[in-house]
Amino acid sequence: MDKMLIGSIINGEERKEESRNSMEVVSPYNEETVAELKLATKKDLDDAVNSSFDIYHSTMKVMPANERADILRKAADLLEERVEDFATIICKEAGKPIKYSRGEVKRSIQVLRFSSELAKNIFGEVIPMDAAVGGENRMGLVKRIPLGVVGAITPFNFPLNLSLHKIAPALAAGNTIVFKPAEKTPVSAYMFVKLLEEAGLPKGVINLLIGTGEEIGAPLVKQDKVHKISFTGSLNVGKKIRETAGFKKVTLELGSNSPNILFEDADLGYAVKELVKGAFAFSGQVCISAQRIYVQRNIYDKFLEDYINQTNALKIGDPLNEETDIGPMINEESAERAKLWIDDAVEKGAKVEAGGDRKGTILSPTIMTNVDENMKIIAQEVFAPIVSVIPFDTEDEVIHYSNNSIYGLQAGVFTKDIDRALRVADKLEMGGVWINEISTYRQDNHPYGGVKQSGIGKEGVKYAIEDMTEMKFIGIKLNNQD
Ligand code: SIN
Repeated sequence: MDKMLIGSIINGEERKEESRNSMEVVSPYNEETVAELKLATKKDLDDAVNSSFDIYHSTMKVMPANERADILRKAADLLEERVEDFATIICKEAGKPIKYSRGEVKRSIQVLRFSSELAKNIFGEVIPMDAAVGGENRMGLVKRIPLGVVGAITPFNFPLNLSLHKIAPALAAGNTIVFKPAEKTPVSAYMFVKLLEEAGLPKGVINLLIGTGEEIGAPLVKQDKVHKISFTGSLNVGKKIRETAGFKKVTLELGSNSPNILFEDADLGYAVKELVKGAFAFSGQVCISAQRIYVQRNIYDKFLEDYINQTNALKIGDPLNEETDIGPMINEESAERAKLWIDDAVEKGAKVEAGGDRKGTILSPTIMTNVDENMKIIAQEVFAPIVSVIPFDTEDEVIHYSNNSIYGLQAGVFTKDIDRALRVADKLEMGGVWINEISTYRQDNHPYGGVKQSGIGKEGVKYAIEDMTEMKFIGIKLNNQD
C-alpha cells in the first residue's frame, strides 16, 4: 500500500508542508507504515479554534435543521459505499481484526443516520408561567440552542465510531468542532473529515488537528473559545481535563473493569460463547470489555472448563485475515504492561488457566483464576485480553464484589429469573446493566456513560445532542392583556 501523507485540515486547507515535524502510523501487527503524519503546531491549534468559532457564528448557528440533517444523511450514504475502504484502514492502523473493523464502520453509519433523524427533532418547551403567583399574562419558551465550538478528543480503540459519537451529534445540534483524533490511529478519522466535505459540510465547520495529547489535546482543553470538551480515553487524562477545562462543559467517557454475573440458572452455553467475545474482542481494548466474570459456585467448574476450551480455540494472527479473532494490541508497550500485570497477579497467588504468553504486540487470550481484589487485573482497568473467573455463593456477595470498584460503566447479568435480574440491575452501581447480554455489548442509541470514575455525562446520539445543546429561556409579557 502507498503510504498516505496526512496533515491537519483547517478551514478546508490541509497543512502538510515538508518542514513540519512528523510521526508515522504503523501497523501494530507487522510494523508496515500506514501513513506519515505532519504534525500540527500551536499556531494551527489557534487557527483551528478561531476558524471553528467564526464559522459557528457565520454559518452553523444559522444553518437550518433540515440542511444539517441532509449533510449527515449524505455522509451516511457515502460511508455505506466505502465500508471496505474504512474497515481496511481501521484494521491496519489499529490492528483490529477485519470482521470487527467492518462492524465498527457499520455502527458508524447508524450513528450518522440517527444523528440525521434527530437533527430534525430537537424540541423545546412552553412553560406554564401562570403557575407562579403573579405570572399571569406571561408566556415562557425554552429553546434548545447549540453550544458553539465542541472540542472532540478521541481514542485509538474505535477510531471511527467513537469519533462519530462526538462529531455527528455535535453537527446535528448545530455546533462546530475542533477534532483531535488519537495520534496512533488518525487515518480513518482523516478520511472521514474528507468525506464530510464531499457530503456538503462547509469548510471550517470541522477542523482536524493531527498531533499528540500533550502538544495539542491539553492546550485545546484550555482554549476559551471552545465551549465543550468531549473526551473518551483514560482515567488519568480525564482527571487532568476536568482540572483544566475551566467553565466549559465536559463529557468524559473513561475506563471500567466491567463485571459479568452468571447465576446458576443462566443459559450456560450461550453465556460461555458470548463471554469469549466479550472478553477478547479487539484484544480486550474496549472500555466495557468483560474483565471480571462472577460465576455461581455450583456451575463454576462446568463454566470454566467450557470457557477455557472455547478460548483456546480462538484464532490468533493477521488482523486482515477473515478468520482472525485475536490480533495485536495497539503497541508493544501495552502488551508488555498487560503481561506484567499477569505476572504480578501470579506472584500474588493467581493461576493462569489459558494464554498468558506474549509475542511482540500479541498477548494470547488469558483466563485467570484464584484472583483477589488487590490485584491490578481486578482493581484496575486491564484494557487487554485478560479476564478473571471468580466463584460466588450469594446474590448479596456478588453485588458487593461487583460494586467494589472505582469504576461503574456497564455490567452483564445472566439469569432466567426476571425478578432477580431486575433486583440485581437496580443494585449494581453502573451507568448501564445488560440482562442476558455481555457488558461489552453497546448499541449506539442507548445512553452510554459511567458513574464513579468511569466518567461524566452520556453519549448515545440523543443524549449526546442533549449535552451538546443548552436551554435558552425566552419570556414574553403580554402587555395588551388585563
Ligand atoms: C468504548 O470502548 O468505550 C466503546 C465501546 C463501544 O462503543 O462499543
